[in-house]
Amino acid sequence: MADNIVIIKDLIKKYSDFVAVDGINLEIQAGELFGLLGPNGAGKTTTISIISCLLKPASGDVFVGGYSVKKYPTKAKVLMGVVPQDIALYPTLTALENLNFWGRMYGLSGALLKERVEEALELAGLIERTKERVQNYSGGMKRRLNIAIGILHHPKVLLMDEPTVGIDPQSRNHILETVKRLNRAGTAIIYTSHYMEEVEILCDKVGIIDHGKIIAMGTADELKKLIGDEHAIIVQAENVDDDVIDALNQLRYVDCVNYHEDEIEVLSKHGGRVLSKVVSVLNQADVHINSIDIKEPNLEAVFLHLTGKSLRD
Ligand SMILES: Nc1ncnc2c1ncn2[C@@H]1O[C@H](COP(=O)(O)OP(=O)(O)OP(=O)(O)O)[C@@H](O)[C@H]1O
Ligand SMILES: [Mg+2]
Repeated sequence: MADNIVIIKDLIKKYSDFVAVDGINLEIQAGELFGLLGPNGAGKTTTISIISCLLKPASGDVFVGGYSVKKYPTKAKVLMGVVPQDIALYPTLTALENLNFWGRMYGLSGALLKERVEEALELAGLIERTKERVQNYSGGMKRRLNIAIGILHHPKVLLMDEPTVGIDPQSRNHILETVKRLNRAGTAIIYTSHYMEEVEILCDKVGIIDHGKIIAMGTADELKKLIGDEHAIIVQAENVDDDVIDALNQLRYVDCVNYHEDEIEVLSKHGGRVLSKVVSVLNQADVHINSIDIKEPNLEAVFLHLTGKSLRD
């Protein structure tokens, strides 16, 4: 389809006998913000590396703007910006020197290079520290500079591999805002993460990846429908006995009650309606309530439901 900026077709990648990417098919539309959500070792970086022509697939292909990365890597690369998981900067150069270097690699020069470098520095929030050596930067600033480098040539699609891992909250917020800004300006973004909150907030569409396979795909809302509209009411309480748990189990709209170490978990598709009934059962039984929380269905729960394990180990 003409409006797909990236098409991944039957992609397989092996490291010796180990299959790291196991038959991935994906279509990312122009201007879309696509999230690739998966735990450590799921195959996110391997997939990104194949799209960005750093690795060759065992079989299958990726088309960027219609160009096969196997046949026309140079043409495909021009359309992409990459923000790698491992930071790729010259530590002894300043931010400005790094940007000028990479800008020239992209074929920019003269007034256009200057304009693009300034634009990227502004977007990355680094205007005040441009003349400092990158080795003195914090992890978050290095990451932001990497993003600045990735967008110098105005790519149609930006590949961002876990851009917020291991950085301070301020840089993290700045990066999330930058991602939104770039996307609003029309850049398609493939954003990998194992933070479901980020993916849920940012992305139009999410692919959940595990063991090299896409195990579910859709909008966050569509994915959450896979587990139904199940809310969890979590009560921290003392003096809980079997009768109390039985009484909770018998409440209308309650699907399941779990009890473990002073924590009661009540699952229901009608969280709001059930909450007051849960509280009154507990009050009548003289249970001492320390805290109550309602958890909406989220992507973590979807992942747990599909794989039986948590996104974060
Ligand atoms: N060069 C390599 N040689 C052998 N195995 C590799 C190599 N690179 C990655 N792998 C393995 O391939 C699998 C996928 O790795 P990949 O880096 O793509 O995962 P990821 O989803 O990016 O994980 P993370 O969240 O930790 O970054 C892992 O099991 C990893 O150990
Ligand atoms: Mg990775």
